[in-house]
Amino acid sequence: MTNSRQPVEPFRIKSVEPIRLLSRAERQARITAASYNIFKLEARDCYVDLLTDSGTGAMSTAQWAAIMMGDESYAGADSFRRFETTVKSIFRKKKVIPCHQGRVAENLMFSTILKKGQYVLNNTHFDTTRGNILHKGGVPIDLPCKESFSDQPIPFKGNMDIARLEEFITGHKREEIAMVIVTVTNNSAGGQPVSMANIREVSEICHRYQLPFYFDCARFAENCYFIKQLESGYSQMSIREIAAEMFDLCDGVMMSAKKDGLANIGGFIALNDEQLYGRLAELLVLIEGFPTYGGLAGRDLEALAVGLEEVMNEDYLRYRIGQVAYLGARIKEAGMPIIEPTGGHAVFVDAGKFLPQIPSEQFPGQGLTVAFYLEGGIRVVEIGSLMFGGIDPNTGKKLSVGRELVRMAIPRRVYTNSHMDYVAETAETIVRNKSAVTGFTIVKESQFLRHFTCELAIAQLKPEEAGRKGR
Ligand code: F0G
Repeated sequence: MTNSRQPVEPFRIKSVEPIRLLSRAERQARITAASYNIFKLEARDCYVDLLTDSGTGAMSTAQWAAIMMGDESYAGADSFRRFETTVKSIFRKKKVIPCHQGRVAENLMFSTILKKGQYVLNNTHFDTTRGNILHKGGVPIDLPCKESFSDQPIPFKGNMDIARLEEFITGHKREEIAMVIVTVTNNSAGGQPVSMANIREVSEICHRYQLPFYFDCARFAENCYFIKQLESGYSQMSIREIAAEMFDLCDGVMMSAKKDGLANIGGFIALNDEQLYGRLAELLVLIEGFPTYGGLAGRDLEALAVGLEEVMNEDYLRYRIGQVAYLGARIKEAGMPIIEPTGGHAVFVDAGKFLPQIPSEQFPGQGLTVAFYLEGGIRVVEIGSLMFGGIDPNTGKKLSVGRELVRMAIPRRVYTNSHMDYVAETAETIVRNKSAVTGFTIVKESQFLRHFTCELAIAQLKPEEAGRKGR
């Protein structure tokens, strides 16, 4: 056993929420009834739920206490002032627009600034960011660094490709590009961090070409912790100081506060451009609420004001990043290839490599996802051909997918290290019975975001496909 490597939790538990492991027969019945789609499972039927780290975290005693201070006034609530003061002090911008989650911040921003056909450049767009840009007639461009596709455990694989960024900018007219975004950590590239050096270069280029530079900073504290650990010159700085240096380099941020806000709901935009603030606030009133609550209750704003401070605590971050690394190490020891190094919020298993007998048309990631539920009642999610493949509804062409991954996202402060051991032991059982993992075919699907609703059936593997590599 590897207990000595376990990061010790910097909290004790005051309130517990029972969870129950169904019997194998019950799990079999539930997953069959869900047509092998884990989005159709009831949460109560999942023993350890690693579907997402978004909005699923546990709040602290200080946050629950703050909730009682919620000022639910329509205009000018004290709760907003506390939230605004905290956001301004960490993100160092003059204006704050609250909203109920990250994708609303994206919707507000792109509805307001995007002109048809304009590009938005990003290290890697998260799905909702991409979706909002496309929906407003824009063109999202991903510019991840080359290392992000490497199998080597290189630090800062979340970086933007600086050469390609400059090449893209010089190859287009200034007015063809709406903004440049850096997503920290880079969720769609394995939750990998972005270095301060890379952020500084992006900022310098944006200012040289007079392009707005924004962060998608859902996991900013996790990114700052990686900078502190891995980048020279930062080991003696506090997370707050690193965050200040980072955010002084940008024009504004969009945040899903359901992650590093340590709360169950919330988001915001913070920016310096007063004229743009006015336009965003106008739309905010139409679709979310008055600018001093923006779709949130006063108590949510209170929980966020406390959570945004707590998330920068280094004992917390050491445990948080340590827990993800610990699970990653144990999954790897169990015999499943993972993306290395592990990132900030999730372990990504390379199901394509693990299950070469299942061709990508039969979704090896889904095979592994179903196996985790059947073996241990654990809910994980496929991030591969099922989620991103199929036919592009705009072009009619087959979409190409890089890797067949499975994401195990760890909710913040929710599961103990024995839950992590349990997940790793389940992985060991799956490895021992690897040949029993099956592929799937889609029986019914929708045109958009098919993975949420599709129905699946166990694929019958053709003998000639048995030896084929699954990617
Ligand atoms: N940006 C990033 C980097 C995200 O990871 C997410 C959500 C959003 C924006 C959208 O925020 O959910 O508050 O509207 N990510 C979740 C996930 C859903 O599971 O990775 P939201």
